[in-house]
Amino acid sequence: MTIKPTTTQTGTPVASDEHSLTVGTEGVTALHDRYLVEKLAQFNRERIPERIVHAKGGGAHGQFVVTNDVSQYTRAAVFQPGATTETIQRFSSVAGEQGSPDTWRDVRGFSVKFYTSEGNYDIVGNNTPVFFIRDGIKFPDFIHSQKRLPGSGLRDATMQWDFWTLSPESAHQVTYLMGDRGLPRSWREMPGFGSHTYQWINAAGERFWVKYHFTSNQGNIEMEGSEAELIAGADADYYRRDLHDAIEAGDFPSWDLSVQVMPYEDGKTYRFNPFDLTKVWPHADYPLIKIGTHTLNRNPENFFAEIEQAAFSPANFVPGIAASPDKMLMARIFSYPDAQRYRVGTNFAELPVNAPKSPVNNYSQDGAARHHYNPPTAPNYAPNSLGGPVADPLLAVEGGWENDGELMRAAAKLRSEDSDFGQAGTLYRDVYDDDAKARFLDTITGAISGVQRPEVTERAIAYWTAVDVGLGIKLRANLATWAEADMLAEAASGYPVE
Ligand code: HEM
Repeated sequence: MTIKPTTTQTGTPVASDEHSLTVGTEGVTALHDRYLVEKLAQFNRERIPERIVHAKGGGAHGQFVVTNDVSQYTRAAVFQPGATTETIQRFSSVAGEQGSPDTWRDVRGFSVKFYTSEGNYDIVGNNTPVFFIRDGIKFPDFIHSQKRLPGSGLRDATMQWDFWTLSPESAHQVTYLMGDRGLPRSWREMPGFGSHTYQWINAAGERFWVKYHFTSNQGNIEMEGSEAELIAGADADYYRRDLHDAIEAGDFPSWDLSVQVMPYEDGKTYRFNPFDLTKVWPHADYPLIKIGTHTLNRNPENFFAEIEQAAFSPANFVPGIAASPDKMLMARIFSYPDAQRYRVGTNFAELPVNAPKSPVNNYSQDGAARHHYNPPTAPNYAPNSLGGPVADPLLAVEGGWENDGELMRAAAKLRSEDSDFGQAGTLYRDVYDDDAKARFLDTITGAISGVQRPEVTERAIAYWTAVDVGLGIKLRANLATWAEADMLAEAASGYPVE
């Protein structure tokens, strides 16, 4: 094995990695030890800002193979029969920071980047099909309430429940989160959802509304709260390790990707707003149609370069796929590339993990750490008469929907079956069995027990009563029993029980 000489970043051989340059053996260190200075300065800059949400995560490379023909609904090359596309996927937790335990109860992120022949297409979803809010203007407030108090830096049940109970549209997602599905056993054993309604356009220009579902071929398996708490203490990287070890052992996890397809005209008259992110579409109305299978088969060689710097964005569409009138989606389309310009840098799209496999042609240039540039003869303005790239006017008519009206700040018009609590109640009553209902009650009781303001506790009881009257009654009784048990334990031990 040939040993290579150590060099500075500019390639000059260096004298030592163990001894700084000093005046005599005990004297002061020389500032002109450029290698020492470079080494310390580079080290000081190793970290980039963590993601403002979804900071803790992990991921792997993979492949998406189309198995069914959905060309009647979309012309996107990535979903045409016979297509195989390289991908990268990142899983994450929402509220915790970089080092937070994987098994804290939380929603899990589920992001897939498809390096398609028409540019990158990203599905940036979660392991739940719905979300806490339905207007992006509430997102910073929602996240503040789930993260830490500005004064103490502590997480706080009172502000979480204050926000949730003042935002009744959160009920469906909180019912998911506090149920068994809030604690998957691993990233491999959970589903993924695009969550929003997206638009598909076929070769004839016909439009459809779609929702994505990734179904785990490993099954959906959850863990109990007590087990998750033990693991949180013993192995904060439990999910990250599980995914890495499975792929390393050749046990490649896979998900079938399907869509629910709603004819474009149904969107106008469906019994509830189909663009409301707090709702699911019943499968009886819009059954799953399989597209293909996504398999993760290669671990990153460098976590920082390939996972930390990965930039997923709901703004990354390809021809044949577009947005919908979902206010959350429109806010996200601005938010992600903006976050990535700040977090990774202006030219984040040039990094190997983010760069498309298809050509990039446009008139953008320069900026920090720019690597790619056009030949000196290429024009850097459009329009030009020098043969520079030309935009495709046919794309201008794709991806729209009819809309008109005054500018306003208002909730979408209610339809006959729009309600904040209806689908949450159905999930609790009809999907959770008796054991799951009991675990759910214990989980919400535990979470609400931490609330320090009685009026917020009362509001939380009213919130769950609106989801299900019986649940509200049980919750009130359970909270009283738990408080009494704490008082008795405190009296017996003389030690305050939190
Ligand atoms: C308007 C509401 C939302 C805003 C403003 C927002 C904003 C953000 C931002 C700024 C990031 C960090 C991006 C980065 O630094 O690379 C992020 C990450 C993420 N968000 Fe959202 N988000 C919103 C709603 C949602 C929803 C509804 C979902 C799922 C359906 C979601 C899923 C994710 C995921 C999975 C990540 C991590 C992506 C990765 O793995 O790198 N977010 N979000």
